Amino acid sequence: MSISIRIQVPMIQSNPVIDCTLDRHAHILPGCDHGSDSLETSLRQVAMAKAVGITTICATPHFYPHKETVASFLTRRQYAYDELRGSLTDDDPRVILGAEVLICEGMEHLDGLHSLCREGTDELLLEMPFYRWTESMWDTIYTLHEMEDITLIIAHADRYPPKDIERLIQEGISLQVNVECILKLLSRKRCLSWIKKGYAAYLGSDIHMLGKGYRDWEKCKKLLTRCLSQQKG
Ligand SMILES: [Fe+2]
Repeated sequence: MSISIRIQVPMIQSNPVIDCTLDRHAHILPGCDHGSDSLETSLRQVAMAKAVGITTICATPHFYPHKETVASFLTRRQYAYDELRGSLTDDDPRVILGAEVLICEGMEHLDGLHSLCREGTDELLLEMPFYRWTESMWDTIYTLHEMEDITLIIAHADRYPPKDIERLIQEGISLQVNVECILKLLSRKRCLSWIKKGYAAYLGSDIHMLGKGYRDWEKCKKLLTRCLSQQKG
């Protein structure tokens, strides 16, 4: 009988940095999901991002594995991206491709899983459900986390129960946080603590249509600058 023991090592970076010029989570591809209903909306979103100093936007349309294949998603995403790219200028933020992938059991076997990662990386932005996470979901997380060609990033970690996030941190799994969580007093302390300890690697607007994501970005940037510089001092 073999017994496997999971060794838990919290991830700690000595120099926590969060890049405020990168929007790691955004729904800006026209017609690709409910994030943008038209090219006009997408261009307004890009203009808002540019105005707050974002130089790279990772477009992360929703991918629901129970609804479509990876191949079909990639075709739709490319079509929407081409439409947007044709209207961007050299002065606009660079738009790169990714996906917000909803967890499903057995997804480690999905054909083309790696092509859902952020362009040029092995980072997979994983969305969890807003109901209780089952143990089989945890098994899927562990399996994905152990895959050599996948680095898990948990989307908008601020929206999930703290005890689940603590468990992810113990596993050394990186978090992405939305700007709104740093502005809200109720969640600020928790999110700042993740950033300071290096657990939250990425900031995202999670922009849908002309929502608050980019309006909050500037305030969030100032708050982060102040808090992280206090930590160094
Ligand atoms: Fe999202």
